[in-house]
Amino acid sequence: MALEEQTALSGTPIVLGIETSCDETAAAIVDGAGVVHANVVFSQIEDHAPFGGVVPEIAARAHLDHLQPVIAHALDEASLGFNDLDAVAATGGPGLIGGVLVGTMTAKAIAMARGIPYLAVNHLEAHALTARLTDKVAFPYLLLLVSGGHCQLIAVEGLGRYRRLGTTIDDAVGEAFDKTAKLLGMGYPGGPALEKAATTGHPERFDLPRPMVGKPGCDFSFSGLKTAVRQKVEALDAPTEQDIADIAAAFQEAVAGSLVNRCRNAIRAFSEEHGTGHALVVAGGVAANQRLRLALSELAEKSGMSFTAPPIALCTDNAAMVAWAGVERLQAGESDPLSFAPRPRWPLDPGAPKAIGAGVKA
Ligand code: KG4
Ligand code: ZN
Repeated sequence: MALEEQTALSGTPIVLGIETSCDETAAAIVDGAGVVHANVVFSQIEDHAPFGGVVPEIAARAHLDHLQPVIAHALDEASLGFNDLDAVAATGGPGLIGGVLVGTMTAKAIAMARGIPYLAVNHLEAHALTARLTDKVAFPYLLLLVSGGHCQLIAVEGLGRYRRLGTTIDDAVGEAFDKTAKLLGMGYPGGPALEKAATTGHPERFDLPRPMVGKPGCDFSFSGLKTAVRQKVEALDAPTEQDIADIAAAFQEAVAGSLVNRCRNAIRAFSEEHGTGHALVVAGGVAANQRLRLALSELAEKSGMSFTAPPIALCTDNAAMVAWAGVERLQAGESDPLSFAPRPRWPLDPGAPKAIGAGVKA
């Protein structure tokens, strides 16, 4: 970034964001005007791929190895030094606790050494606020958060004011993509591989259930769909590439149908409270899926809502969203004490009723 631009930005806080809650080691620098000066993501996928999923102990050690160079890289990319930072924000949960500890301790050390505010950011809040960084979406809006660990519909009513309308009663949607991809013999992470396979598939060939469609409320369920896929695969002797593509396409359609149905109910509930003309926002890693984006944008249009999906690099885990959540909270006069304890579970809406079913995610 040119020096003149930096000078022009003086007056808006410059925040370092750190993300270490899963298998991405990330650091980013974002300012109060929403300019992303650097957004560095080191993916640990290669470390975890042989195990078919994220191994918490390996993730924690990898964060320890990579975080410091990733922060140095971000500062370098932004042509800034530690002295230019006005605050440090790090994911404080929910997530794999070993990784969250690494990010939290690093952020606290920087904040302490520099004497600047520290912000413990809720990872879900960071996903939830990304659309304000990328598209300046105004409160209130309806958020569909779809990632490897979460599947929730949330009314985002203001900063720190989140009302959960629905959640999954079993698997998160990204988890369903990953597990189904594994059943179909694809590598980890499965979502992008499954989407690629689906592009050459015929979705109508296999009849798969559309979970929860027609049921009242906004909760999700994906484990039955995964079982149905397993049965279809087992019924095939030696599945060909075309068989796999057709099942992948049918799975993706079933997920799209289910998400659209749940969102339709949520839009109704949201509009009753907040009126019409607001935005439907989709965030989280699964929001990278083009088929799902299309289905949701069509629903939004039919419902008189605008539709926002952040660019893919800001949908999957990254630190720019963490820095931005830090910016918003800092500008609201907030910060956290250095005594903050990382939280493996940290629901955005602690008062939300639990979904009926097992294994409800935070
Ligand atoms: O938000 P994210 O990067 O990490 C979590 O907080 O979980 O989401 C990762 C999840 C994985 O389950 C991955 O398979 C899924 O997002 N995903 C996709 C696609 N890209 C990533 N799922 C479907 N289609 C995609 N194109
Ligand atoms: Zn995430």
